[in-house]
Amino acid sequence: MKYGNFDDNAREYVITEPETPRPWINYIGRQDYVGMISNTGGGYSFYQDPRYRRLVRYRYNNAPRNVGGRGLYVRDAESGEYFSPTWQPARVDLDDYECRHGLGYTTIRGEKDGVAGEVTYFVPPGEDLEAWRVTVENDSDEPRSLQLFSLVEFCLWDAMDDISNYQRNYNTGEVEVEDSVIYQKTEYRERRNHFAYFACSADIDGFDTQRDAFVGQYDGFDEPQVLEDGQATDSIAHGWSPIGSHQVDLELEPGESEDIVFLLGYHENPEDEKFEAPGVLNKEYVEGTIEEYCDPDALDAAFEELNEFWDDQLSALQVETPDEETDRMVNTWNAYQNTVTMNLARSASLYETGLTRGIGFRDSLQDQLAVLHQFPDRARQRILNLAKIQLKDGGAYHQYTPLTGEGNADIGGGFNDDPMWLVMSTAAYVKETGDTSILEEEVVYENEPGTEAPLAEHLQRAVEYVWERRGPHDLPLIGHADWNDCLNLNCFSENPDESFQTAEHDVDEERAESVFIGGQFVYAVEELAELAEQTDVLPEAAEDYQRYADEMAEAVADAGWDGKWFRRAYDHFEDPIGSSENDEGQIFVESNGMCGMAEIGREDGKVQDAMDSVRERLATEHGIVLHQPAFTEYDERYGEITSYPPGYKENGSVFCHTNPWIMITEAKLGNGERAFDYYKRICPAAREDISDVHTTEPYVYAQTIAGPDAPTTGEAKNSWLTGTAAWNYVAITQHILGVRPNHDGLVVDPAIPADWDEYEVHREFRGATYEITVENPENVESGVDRVEVDGEEIDGQTIPDLGDGETHDVRVVMG
Ligand code: BGC
Ligand code: NOJ
Repeated sequence: MKYGNFDDNAREYVITEPETPRPWINYIGRQDYVGMISNTGGGYSFYQDPRYRRLVRYRYNNAPRNVGGRGLYVRDAESGEYFSPTWQPARVDLDDYECRHGLGYTTIRGEKDGVAGEVTYFVPPGEDLEAWRVTVENDSDEPRSLQLFSLVEFCLWDAMDDISNYQRNYNTGEVEVEDSVIYQKTEYRERRNHFAYFACSADIDGFDTQRDAFVGQYDGFDEPQVLEDGQATDSIAHGWSPIGSHQVDLELEPGESEDIVFLLGYHENPEDEKFEAPGVLNKEYVEGTIEEYCDPDALDAAFEELNEFWDDQLSALQVETPDEETDRMVNTWNAYQNTVTMNLARSASLYETGLTRGIGFRDSLQDQLAVLHQFPDRARQRILNLAKIQLKDGGAYHQYTPLTGEGNADIGGGFNDDPMWLVMSTAAYVKETGDTSILEEEVVYENEPGTEAPLAEHLQRAVEYVWERRGPHDLPLIGHADWNDCLNLNCFSENPDESFQTAEHDVDEERAESVFIGGQFVYAVEELAELAEQTDVLPEAAEDYQRYADEMAEAVADAGWDGKWFRRAYDHFEDPIGSSENDEGQIFVESNGMCGMAEIGREDGKVQDAMDSVRERLATEHGIVLHQPAFTEYDERYGEITSYPPGYKENGSVFCHTNPWIMITEAKLGNGERAFDYYKRICPAAREDISDVHTTEPYVYAQTIAGPDAPTTGEAKNSWLTGTAAWNYVAITQHILGVRPNHDGLVVDPAIPADWDEYEVHREFRGATYEITVENPENVESGVDRVEVDGEEIDGQTIPDLGDGETHDVRVVMG
């Protein structure tokens, strides 16, 4: 069952039913102003910080889903009938409906009784506003008297306060209306210097700014009083719930249409120029912007610019393979999702409220892995920003707040995997760009001025942090948890009122160890050792690093090995987790993926055995589950992982983030068939046909797919903001298609299905362009017989870094 289809040429997903199983959303805006638009026009927006600078109100977990916030209504003035071209909020059946989610924009068109409304939402590049470019068209053969009503429900800035502190915020709302512009200036009278505006390009025939006046005391957004009456009330909000709504009356001849633009913007005034008269907002600085973009031609030019931006962004890596779904994900949707996760980490979606989670240290570092070729400068900056919240002891704050850049422990601390991601992402950045100068950048610790040290030293402290914290089996101590936030081996939590994530540790001495971090340490430290060879910033340490890596690999291969797979951890009592000795949780994917990628024990067959065990015990038709058997009871020794019902989230769902680690390991072993098979099992485009099972958007990855122990097996949850996006992109582009940077150039090392005869990769790398054709005349899964660059055969599989700004033809023959 499908609800739409991919339009590959337009790079759009076209939704043809408004009632998708969940709201299927898109993001507009890629820097400061960010909005979410669902396929029925819902969602919210904010400036920089989804908690403190929220513009549009959103009601979480609402029924019906996803109403309020934004709205458009088209009304026939004679019959009094009305509809929303975006279906919601009016929810009147449409004769025709189509939503096109594109890159940074969404167009929704709805038609009813011979009248069509179409709206395109996007953020003009570089501006702090979202534009709604609306067209109303009379497709009937009668002249029609129509009315268009807009709606924005404003959030009173701090979105947490907005949904909790009504004794205050029912009193604070303030607005101004001048010509066709509604200004939302709540709290501007005191400490804020920012305001929002909602402008309309047309002369208006009325407005409302008080929600109750627009909706009615006991009505909903589906049947607002003003639409019933056919006339706005010109209400001015004093407290309660400020909204913005314009009324535009239109007389349209048959076939005639009219363009109307709405702009919802954010602005900060200089502190000493807040008012133009006592209590009156200074609007001087936004007038020009409003005038400019209220002109549909200017808006169209901005739209053009947006499309050019995306052409340019995506052109850095394009592929043509025998598999349509792979092409559509790699060329468009996966790359697009990567830019969203890169911007927002896990902060704001329809599942992440934007209220509590800032930019996570571990999350954001992994997100960078997939955008290095697209915007290396922004990735460089983000890596440095994250390094600022590293602690002096080499550990890290778990997140920072986007508005201040300050690290905090609000969502917990002491996750001992955190520091390793800094090493891994920095190494990946240098491999992509060749820019070792990042290692010399002076960065503070703990946001504290005066503690500046080169990034190289931050990486060293990260390594020392893990090295110095090893437990009874010489494996890294897990701390509060590792990648799996829910493996809480030190808390022994019995109090239902405490969060597992911030629960205090209830042990005299921390002894619980993580095999996962052991694998991650080996991987990261080997990267660092290689990095040390590239630069003299890290010279003396290099040898030590190799020793550290070797010793850790030994500990993992010894205490971390269960006989057929890598164990997961040791608990406080030194008992193994992820072992055949356990009744539940006998085998886990994440330690097998990480130790597999680090190739620990590869020479004596451990990695292959581990992959065989994963295949046998964890691989399902919907992807690879986290562990088996799932935990059936709460166990305070293990914490939050056992709190979830079996098959959900960290208790045995297909946690999609981990699947690419297995794909990568299989690819490294040369098992192309298996690697690609796993890729397809969770690939959203390949699950489009089972949209009624999968339920979330078929164009982006979701965090989890319910595992076989769950009653709703195959159902995805928490789409968009997940490390799944970055890692799957890395797996398919760098390990399956096999084109990846190393310090010297671009390696070509495919691991593909044997029946692929040929594929192409267009790759920009350090200033040059490589047109790579991979031929597979003998239909093998992996292995390269020869590589030719511009017709000349080279030694090995690494295309040298030519860096000459030219385009080079590369021919790779497998065999
Ligand atoms: C979730 C994890 C998440 C953590 C972060 C837990 O409740 O299960 O997936 O990483 O919260 O705060
Ligand atoms: C989601 C979190 O954002 C991520 O940091 C964590 O690794 C996974 N959950 C697994 O717990």
